[in-house]
Amino acid sequence: MKTRLTEVIPRLKIPAAAAGGFADGRGLAAALVMGADGVQIGTVFLCSEECEIHINAKNKILASQSTDVVVTGSVRKRTNATRGIRNAFSDKFHMLEDSGASLQELSDLATGTNRKAFVDGDVQNGFVMSGQGITVVKEIRTCKDIIVSINSEAEDILKRAPSLIR
Ligand SMILES: Cc1cc2nc3c(=O)[nH]c(=O)nc-3n(C[C@H](O)[C@H](O)[C@H](O)COP(=O)(O)O)c2cc1C
Repeated sequence: MKTRLTEVIPRLKIPAAAAGGFADGRGLAAALVMGADGVQIGTVFLCSEECEIHINAKNKILASQSTDVVVTGSVRKRTNATRGIRNAFSDKFHMLEDSGASLQELSDLATGTNRKAFVDGDVQNGFVMSGQGITVVKEIRTCKDIIVSINSEAEDILKRAPSLIR
């Protein structure tokens, strides 16, 4: 992520939102210092009170950490690359992928797995799509709480940043 931001931000003439793995004020502060105009946050808001996904999916996110996050599919192999929490579905997908299964077989296995996890609450056979910022997601909070705490943490960090320069 850091490399991409470094490459892309200096070339942009429009506001840039950094995305992928941002979950707290530390990340926001880092992105702003790197020249981004803001961050786009996805996974953290899955665990907001307002988000209507199944409680099993929220609990799966709360109980997981970044090392539990895997990617099914790949752009190189022309299947859709999707990031989520490792489970029975992802293990089966990877096994099929490694054994040279066809795109159709992989697609058949993956189709409907978001609905299974997020709507039906089957977090073993469905796929709980999540980014790598989940380690810091520890509780279900309101969107307002999440945004206020991220902003205030970033502000505190940025206020201390000038002391890094002599
Ligand atoms: C449940 C879920 C569904 C997503 N669906 C898509 C999608 O269909 N297309 C896409 O480009 N990105 C998708 N994303 C990625 C988000 O747009 C966003 O870039 C990403 O969540 C930011 O990283 P973060 O989740 O680590 O904060 C999805 C993310 C989540 C968590």
